[in-house]
Order: sequence, then structure tokens, then C-alpha cells
Amino acid sequence: MKRSSKQSIDANITVWISAATAAIYPYILDAFHWSVTPSASADIGAQISTSDTLVACLLLIAAFAVPLINLMIAGRRQHDAVLFAALVRARRFALLAVTAPTTYVFFGVLTYMAGSKVPDTWIWTPAWLLFGYLVSRRSDSVISQHAPRSSRLRVAHGISGTIVALYVLFHIFNHLLALISPEFHAAVMDIGRTVYRAKFIEPFLVAAMLFQVFGGLRLVWTGTETSTDRYQMFQIASGVFLSLFILGHMNSVFIYARTWLNIPTDWAFAAGLPSGLIHDAWNIRLLPHYALGVFFVLAHLASGLRVVMLAHGASVSVANRLWWVGVLLSILISAAILCGMTGLRLV
Ligand code: HEM
Repeated sequence: MKRSSKQSIDANITVWISAATAAIYPYILDAFHWSVTPSASADIGAQISTSDTLVACLLLIAAFAVPLINLMIAGRRQHDAVLFAALVRARRFALLAVTAPTTYVFFGVLTYMAGSKVPDTWIWTPAWLLFGYLVSRRSDSVISQHAPRSSRLRVAHGISGTIVALYVLFHIFNHLLALISPEFHAAVMDIGRTVYRAKFIEPFLVAAMLFQVFGGLRLVWTGTETSTDRYQMFQIASGVFLSLFILGHMNSVFIYARTWLNIPTDWAFAAGLPSGLIHDAWNIRLLPHYALGVFFVLAHLASGLRVVMLAHGASVSVANRLWWVGVLLSILISAAILCGMTGLRLV
């Protein structure tokens, strides 16, 4: 079989895996919701059985497996210097599927604001399958010319990212404080608001966020055309996730809550009170969305640090080891924040 047609078949298989995993994502969350909801015949206040808890944990793992599987597809090693268009398309499609947990929240907020009466899954699932079909049907050709990676844009992305990181690190630290109490979290947020909500700072912060999103997506487009290693691909994938996360999150905060509903963007709004994140059929989609948002933003910063270290002569093994430490810390911080948001208090 010709090399290009073998690559094309291989790419089409991964496109279908990406489409299928993203398409079933909402049903995994529905199954989770069903597993943590006591049956109508159960006594009020009845505890969920151990087997139901086990099923719920497995379903939550399955929900996180959707972005993970697609991250692995996007990060598959490509040995050829010249990539075939089918492989590039499959890689980009997998990157899009990595964003399923956050895109599903964004999509749900938009359909709610549009007053849609159609269940989200009726649009979401066919749309992914149709998109997968269209991507797999595109005819194959060799990517002949790599678009040059703009070094000026990369530097600007890094500088603006450092400024944005000041806000994001405060924001994440502030969410950790809910482990002490939501009141303490709110008190520290009030202090932070005097700075980041100041009239001349907030528009600047929003503009910097949008620059990160669109400038970052431009870098992704060229970055996916070359044979990147797994570390670079993780940096790209986390950036793609964050782009969708930031757009959706800012829509939720600025447009949906503060303008459309005219409600405060406080703890109750963030934690989906009164029903909370776990037991509400809609709010459960916020759990992987927030968890991955925190994880990817911290791990993306660790990836940026790795690039800067390598550019300044650090050895690859030291830079990689520090990256792993960064990723493990990101997982721990994300898990701690989500524990706080779902009711764990340390004092
Ligand atoms: C557990 C995860 C997160 C939760 C629950 C959360 C929740 C919130 C809430 C409630 C606000 C409103 C703040 C206020 O009224 O002062 C907000 C604002 C914001 N968040 Fe998050 N956030 C999370 C993670 C993130 C991440 C990872 C980013 C960046 C990648 C981010 C970016 C922003 C931005 C830019 C704003 C607007 C700030 C402003 O009011 O000017 N958030 N978030």
C-alpha cells in the first residue's frame, strides 16, 4: 500500500475516534448524574451505595478520558519531516476534541441564552459526528510548505502571558482559599477586585486575555504543521483548551451573569449553588470544565517555562523534570480547588 494512503486511513481512524469520544461525552456526564441520584423509591436522605459510588468514580474517570485520549492522538509521534494533510487535519481535529469538556459548557450557556428548547445532546452529538465525517472525507495531499512560525508573535504571547499570569495565579490561589471557607475566599476576592476590576485595569486584562486566545490559536495553526515532540504538543493542546475555556468563561462571567442575568459573579455563581456541582444534571458539566481549566492553565505555564529554560541553555533532562513537577503540582492544585468547590473544608 502506498505510504500516503496508509497514512490517510490511519488519520481517518483517529478522526472517527475523536468524533466518537466527543460525541458521547455528554452521555458520560448524564450517566454520572444518574449514578449519584438516589432512586425515587429510596428514603429521603438515603446514602448512595458503595457500588453506585464506584460506578460514579469510573464514570468521572471516563469523562476525563475523553480529553486524555484526544491528547494522546494529537501527540502521536510523526517521524516524517513532511506531514500529509490528512495527518495534520486529524491532529487538529483531535485538539478540538480535547476541548470537549469546556466547549460543552460554552455551548450549553449559549443554547440556554438563545432560549433553545432542544436538549443540547440532540445538537452536540450529531454535530461532532457530522464534523468528523466532513474532516475524514477531505481529499489527501502533502503539506508542501510549512508556514514559518512567527518568532515575534511567540515573544509577544510570552510577554502578554506573563502579565495575564499575575491575575490567573491570584485567581487560582483565591479559589484554593475556599478550602478554608467560602467567606474567606470572598473576602480575599473583594481585595483583589479593587485591583483587577479597576476601570483602567479590567479592559486591559480582557484585551490581554483575547490576545492570548487569538495569538495563541495562530501559533497553534502553524505548530500543528510540523513534527513536534510530545512536550510541544502538550503545550499546543493546553493552549487550544484554554482558548475555548477563556472565551466561554468570559462569556459566562461578563455576558451571561453580569449582563444577561444581572447577578453577582460570586461564590454561589461559581459553585452552582444551591444544588452544587455534583448533584445537578447541568452543573456536573462544570466539574471537568473547571478542573481542566485550572490544570491546563498551570501546566501551560510550566510548558512555557520549559521553553524559556531550554532557550537559556538548561539541559533537556532538567527542563523536562521540572515540567513534570509542574504538571504534578497542577493536578494537585486543580484537585484541591475542586474539592473546595464541592464542599471540603480543611478547618
Ligand atoms: C475553578 C476554576 C475557576 C472558577 C470557579 C472561576 C470563577 C470565576 C468567577 C466567579 C469570576 C468572577 C470574579 C469576580 O466577580 O470578581 C471569574 C472571573 C474571571 N476568571 Fe475565572 N474561574 C476559574 C478559573 C479561571 C481560569 C483557569 C482562568 C484563566 C485561564 C480564569 C479567568 C478569569 C477571568 C479573565 C475573569 C474576569 C476577571 C474580571 O472580572 O475582570 N478563571 N472566574
